[in-house]
Amino acid sequence: MKIYKRLFAVTLLLLFAACSKENTVTTIPYITPEESDGVSLKSSAPFPWGAAVNVSLIKSNAAYRALVEKEMSSLTSENEMKMSRIRSSQTAWYFTDADYIVSFAQEHNIRVHGHTLIWHRSPAWLDTYQGDAAAWEAMFKEYIQTVVGRYKGKVTSWDVVNEAINEDGTLRTSIWQQKLGNDYIARAFQYAHEADPGALLFYNDYGNEYSTVKREAILALVNSLKSRGIPINGIGLQMHTRYNQSDVNLANAINSAAQTGLKVHIAELDIAVNPDNNQSLTFTSSLAQQQADKYKFIVKTYNAIPKAQQFGITTWNLTDGDTWITGEYKRPDWPLPFDSNYKRKAAYQGILDGLK
Ligand code: XIL
Repeated sequence: MKIYKRLFAVTLLLLFAACSKENTVTTIPYITPEESDGVSLKSSAPFPWGAAVNVSLIKSNAAYRALVEKEMSSLTSENEMKMSRIRSSQTAWYFTDADYIVSFAQEHNIRVHGHTLIWHRSPAWLDTYQGDAAAWEAMFKEYIQTVVGRYKGKVTSWDVVNEAINEDGTLRTSIWQQKLGNDYIARAFQYAHEADPGALLFYNDYGNEYSTVKREAILALVNSLKSRGIPINGIGLQMHTRYNQSDVNLANAINSAAQTGLKVHIAELDIAVNPDNNQSLTFTSSLAQQQADKYKFIVKTYNAIPKAQQFGITTWNLTDGDTWITGEYKRPDWPLPFDSNYKRKAAYQGILDGLK
């Protein structure tokens, strides 16, 4: 009897070993049918097509990396160039991940858009940072110039200030605004420009498509920076939007940004299909089609603004498996052009149709 038990245990062990081996096999790069058909977003779009990427996926997931290489001509680092990563304490400067993203992009001839220098979601140490006005100004300037200077000539463009306006159109009372005064925004652009006069500098925010009040405040801010001669080159529309946002609102967001004469970046596009947080929603083909139509509309509208102002369209990550939406809003959602198996969705075709 004992011998049978032992044999059984050994068989189980062998089976387990075989299964884990199989698991490692699935991480080897595979070619999806789409990867060999010669079509890609980057070759279909007359402007740069990008995605936010995540360094750990680029490093560890060959299918993800292959998709970026095949489809993207621009990339934004989803988190690795934020101050909370680069300077998580006053003395801890950390560039390893940001450097990795930049070299990966250079190796594959992909443009890098830097995101983001000054944001209200700042590292906790700033809340207790002791310093008078001059010390704050020096620290602010040093941060911007260290980061922009490090990537001079390698990072094409920066979101210099991100999300500085409230929903009601007033200026957000971030730590920066409190310590540096309302005009910190203009100075951030000047400092970034000094560190890399060749970099294109953007003001980036969300809500242009769903709030007229916020849109007008954003436009007033960028127009005023522009008329004062502050070195601003572009406006970033995050466009975390939803499948049932009206075409009129989306067109207003894009066309009003273009009216500033600045470059326009649709900088963080994703189209939620579950904006009402329904925990049991499934992704039906009807939702997929409505989402595809929305992607098409956005791309078509963007494609119609003057060419010289088309900085590009960037989706916020690539696949439904790595979107921030599910984690941030704790709900199922499917906002991106690829599914979690790296396969093209109807949304992908919607983008191609919008480019026609
Ligand atoms: C998000 C990232 O996607 C998340 O991984 C992170 O936890 C929080 O930040 N607007 C922005 C982006 O400008 O930087 C945010 O990115 C999404 C909203």
